[in-house]
Amino acid sequence: MTNKNILITGGAGFIGSHVVRRFVNEYPDYQIFNLDLLTYAGNPENIKDIERKPNYHFIKGDIRDLAFIRNIFVENNITDVIHLAAESHVDRSITDPFVFIQTNVMGTANLIQAAREHWEEKWDGHLFYHVSTDEVYGALGATGLFTEETRYDPHSPYSASKASSDHIVRAYHDTYGLPVLISNCSNNYGPNQFPEKLIPLFINNIVHRKPLPVYGDGLYTRDWLYVIDHAIAIDLVFHKGKTGETYNIGGFNEWKNIDLIRLLCSIMDKKLGRPEGENAQLITYIKDRPGHDRRYAIDAGKINRELGWKPSVTFEHGLDKTIDWYLENAEWLSRVTSGEYRNYYEEMYGK
Ligand code: NAD
Ligand code: DAU
Repeated sequence: MTNKNILITGGAGFIGSHVVRRFVNEYPDYQIFNLDLLTYAGNPENIKDIERKPNYHFIKGDIRDLAFIRNIFVENNITDVIHLAAESHVDRSITDPFVFIQTNVMGTANLIQAAREHWEEKWDGHLFYHVSTDEVYGALGATGLFTEETRYDPHSPYSASKASSDHIVRAYHDTYGLPVLISNCSNNYGPNQFPEKLIPLFINNIVHRKPLPVYGDGLYTRDWLYVIDHAIAIDLVFHKGKTGETYNIGGFNEWKNIDLIRLLCSIMDKKLGRPEGENAQLITYIKDRPGHDRRYAIDAGKINRELGWKPSVTFEHGLDKTIDWYLENAEWLSRVTSGEYRNYYEEMYGK
């Protein structure tokens, strides 16, 4: 196996931590440089188990700082990039769009420009892999699936910033020939997800008997994938994907929010020894998210046919493992729900 110096950005966040762990453990010949600013969403505890591995290196820093990024490429002779660092929560993008534009658009532009300069247009043996989202495709009606050919139609500042970053990455491929790959994935769930996103937020609220804030009519649909299956897909795309291509990644697993919430309530009635139906009483319908996309669903046929990927974890098993992880890691939850996050929560939902 060739030696590589891989810069993984956002590796202290939810998906990034699972990707970094996989690469550090599976590929001891690769040097893995985890670049993360440790914003409210980045938590070094997420990767504590690998921090002493000889092929793991943590760099605290900001992808918005081009001079700093250039230096990282030179000092560590970076050969490849797997770019996950981003502002990732739609509701936050509605409250504060500019940080999404700065991090997701300018941060991506800085990284790919630094890669271009450092690799000096000798592209052989290099790859810039950009991890993106299905939200760039906009919203589906009751039928149909997002394919790699679906026209971009983002609605939130978050998805618009991710769409812009995808376009920049493709432009560097088409203009300079820089070897790139993009994957667009559906909603992830699993251990270490920050409890502002639906599943961990609701698990935490159920534990503390707090209201479960359902946006609008609760009939919005998402396609859920266990985070480790996403990390496996990223590994496959990185090693076997065809340069310049896009791969959609999804769970073949659509749920209307309210059905998923009811399922979560009922599993947690049993796990917490509460009478059946007790947790569902916490369900509270609230004002809808502005610009809320009705339905997302991915056609993951291309990655299945070309790279042989499909989800390995059933939703039943993945959800069960996820709930157990949050119940067993109450300290992790209480630490991340303190401070900055608490202020944000009160702003969003009131006390
Ligand atoms: P996350 O919010 O949990 O983690 C983001 C990480 O990026 C954090 O560790 C944070 O500290 C870091 N970061 C933020 N701004 C930074 C900056 N300026 N410089 C350096 N680091 C910075 O996000 P996530 O849910 O793990 O998502 C990771 C990536 O995957 C994102 O690009 C997101 O768009 C994409 N994605 C997420 C999902 C999902 O369901 N969560 C689905 C598809 C794609
Ligand atoms: O589709 C991939 C995307 O999935 C990623 O790119 C994003 O980074 C990730 O945050 C996620 O976006 P969503 O907006 O789909 O995820 P979220 O968990 O915020 O919401 C899921 C659904 O649940 C959505 O329809 C809104 C609804 N919801 C969410 C919250 C936080 C509620 O009804 N109440 C809530 O309190």
